[in-house]
Amino acid sequence: MTVNRIFPEGFLWGSATAAYQVEGSSTADGAGMSIWDRFAHTPGMIFGGDTGDTACDQYRLYRDDVKLMAELGLKAYRFSTSWSRVLPTGRGQVNPAGLDYYDRLIDTLLENGVEPLLTLYHWDMPAALEDCGGWLNPEVSDWFSDYASLMYRKFDGRVKTWATLNEPWVITDGGYLHGALAPGHKSPYEAPIASHHLLRSHGAAVKAYRALGKHRIGIVVNIEPKYPASQSPEDLAAVARADAYMNRQYLDPVFFGRYPDEMSEVFGASWPAPWAAADFELISQPIDWLGVNYYTRSVTQQKEASWPVRAGAVRQVGATYTETGWEVFPQGLTDTLTWVKGRYGDIPLMITENGAAFYDPPVAEDGRVQDPLRVAYLRKHISAVHEAIQQGVNVEGYMVWSLLDNLEWSLGYSKRFGIVHVNFETQARTCKDSAKFYARVVATNGGALAESIGG
Ligand code: BGC
Repeated sequence: MTVNRIFPEGFLWGSATAAYQVEGSSTADGAGMSIWDRFAHTPGMIFGGDTGDTACDQYRLYRDDVKLMAELGLKAYRFSTSWSRVLPTGRGQVNPAGLDYYDRLIDTLLENGVEPLLTLYHWDMPAALEDCGGWLNPEVSDWFSDYASLMYRKFDGRVKTWATLNEPWVITDGGYLHGALAPGHKSPYEAPIASHHLLRSHGAAVKAYRALGKHRIGIVVNIEPKYPASQSPEDLAAVARADAYMNRQYLDPVFFGRYPDEMSEVFGASWPAPWAAADFELISQPIDWLGVNYYTRSVTQQKEASWPVRAGAVRQVGATYTETGWEVFPQGLTDTLTWVKGRYGDIPLMITENGAAFYDPPVAEDGRVQDPLRVAYLRKHISAVHEAIQQGVNVEGYMVWSLLDNLEWSLGYSKRFGIVHVNFETQARTCKDSAKFYARVVATNGGALAESIGG
């Protein structure tokens, strides 16, 4: 059966990346070090000893990459700016070469008809600020809103869609609780404080935007819907804790000005309530749009050993899993979008990341990279977005993660998420089948989703 998957007029099709994952030259031309430079250069932290020193070299090749986006017909590019590239120590002295880089990138995008979507923070805190406590220092909201204000003043005429933070949950879960991501801390006492300061910093940056900006600002969260493994009270309670910890911990404060009740159950004695009421006023500044990153779901059961949430995922027999071990579950994207609307209201939404790492064969002699699993993943997930739109959810755009294979954080270059293959020796870019498929989807505003070939 062929289903009509034509998207609303003006639907924004694009791709996403993040500064440290693609730019390279992270300390060139006066830029300061970020926590990711430091983490990557700490032996044992990144698979294979990889670093973002060169990454996809987008700092130097951005013109080619933008040209590629235009050739694929993409209408938007979601990228992040590196705080320590523009403010080497995180505050005070500006690095003109850093600002100039983003100036040129934005102009090049606009010249090519690609709309810039700018995320102010995708995990690369200036190392100099980490030395002052980073996200644990209550002053961080001032540091962040000063940095944000600098960017608004410089770019708000040309950038019309802003995001404050990318995935605060990953920042604290990976960076402050389990230590797998920079800055590599492992503390149940630090994690809730880092989250709270991230949220305050988001609020402070939104507030600053109201004074300086003319367009739209929001935040990007990753949502992983939790489905119960059984109807037992233990599993249902585990689902509630996991959902509160990963999903509602950030959205409830932003939309409702409070944390979910389950947070104290998750963190026990290390949950530092009560929080100052004034903080929630700052955190819950109205936002104009919300970015949703979706990769997978979790079928959740109680699991005492899985600290601190005491909930774990049950592997699904017969399901497809990606190279990062994530179940392919497109229905979860429709469910997520309808859930967001139902719980938080009718705010404009954008899929700010969605994609998958699969094993890709080397580029063939005829230049082809066949990645049928990624094609199938994109087809099903983009269709799931369409389904949500048909159910009345206001989704304005879709950004595939990622334009390019890039540094997959602590997994280094071992996992490839790109629709464009990158040869990290030569920096050659080769469109995979998924890029060609996505280009057809964009050109037909969804029509090509109904094609029967390629998964
Ligand atoms: C992040 C990306 C990352 C992707 C795949 C998201 O959590 O925002 O930076 O590469 O997932 O792991």
